[in-house]
Amino acid sequence: MKRIMHVVGARPNFMKASPVLGALSDHSSVDQTLVHTGQHYDLNMSDIFFDELSMPLPDFNLGVGSGSHADQTAGIMKKLDALLAENRPDLVVVYGDVNSTVASSLVCSKLGIPVGHVEAGLRSFDRRMPEELNRLVTDQLSDHLFTPSTDAKINLIKEGIHEERIYEVGNVMIDSLVKLREVAAERRVLERQLEGFEEYGLVTVHRPSNVDEPGYFECLLNCLNGISKHIPLVFPVHPRTKASIDQFPLNTSHLIMTGPLGYLDFLALQMRAKLVITDSGGIQEETTYLGIPCLTIRDSTERPVTVTSGTNILVGRDLDKLTCEVESILSGNVKKGNIPPLWDGEASLRIAAILESV
Ligand code: UD1
Repeated sequence: MKRIMHVVGARPNFMKASPVLGALSDHSSVDQTLVHTGQHYDLNMSDIFFDELSMPLPDFNLGVGSGSHADQTAGIMKKLDALLAENRPDLVVVYGDVNSTVASSLVCSKLGIPVGHVEAGLRSFDRRMPEELNRLVTDQLSDHLFTPSTDAKINLIKEGIHEERIYEVGNVMIDSLVKLREVAAERRVLERQLEGFEEYGLVTVHRPSNVDEPGYFECLLNCLNGISKHIPLVFPVHPRTKASIDQFPLNTSHLIMTGPLGYLDFLALQMRAKLVITDSGGIQEETTYLGIPCLTIRDSTERPVTVTSGTNILVGRDLDKLTCEVESILSGNVKKGNIPPLWDGEASLRIAAILESV
């Protein structure tokens, strides 16, 4: 029996791990364990995803919680190290680019436990982003690297990673979307708030570079307020963003604000949106798959295929450009896109087959 441990911790991990856990459960030669680091812990940041994505409950929760990057990363490392001393799997699988990902890959590689990284090779080439540092370190330490797109494979080869360790499997997060889009289509979300509007835009902002700097964040909210006079904007607010809004008296009067949403409600809102404004990584991919125009308020993206093939436009921190691009979409100039190769809902099947055999 091959013992595979999955480590997840933060919201964007769950929709990537769920399909892999599901696909591997069909392999009778594999015994799976699920560890939650506790990086995210609120009902709507964690538990709701386990429920909606039909994930098994974690076998272990390290309960690390929030803190500085150093505190959080070190906390996960210490607790995972102790767990692995008693439960030593044959392979550990980590997901994405959050602190839980890098912490786990460091601990496992020092213990000599092989690591598989799902969503390897993405690069924004902006080392001011904590996620970019997490991606670089995790990929260097991983033994099996599962990439969502060809650009990711090229990045890894340029960084000296041997080609035989890289598997271009496609986008596993799209597996969750494909599986649940019909369920999401049945959801009624914010009906009262959206009553009487024919169309709306959807906004998410949570990157430290956008929300932690009060001056810029105020300008961004003013800009969104201005846009919402032309099209209503639904804005599910991440806890980090809420902390910034609570700290400073910012004008959000025209925005339809709500707390963080679960997977299905957010997917439902995304599928019906006229446009999406975001700084999230995963949402750039989901909008490309769904063919919904996406305006990304970042200077760079680690997912360039969403710009070259998909519906994504990088507007950076240029708020005039953001307003112009929204006006352009509202006047009918919508960027058409294609779905990248292997974003077909079956990436997890390919990953599971490889994980069983390596
Ligand atoms: C983390 C990831 C980011 C990902 C995002 C998705 C890292 C470095 N960053 O950022 O890549 O896009 O998750 O959400 O791993 N908080 C709560 N409840 C929770 C979790 C967090 O209130 O369940 C609050 C805490 O005040 C915390 C803050 O949100 O300090 C930030 O959480 P943290 O996990 O440190 O980073 P995120 O900004 O969520």
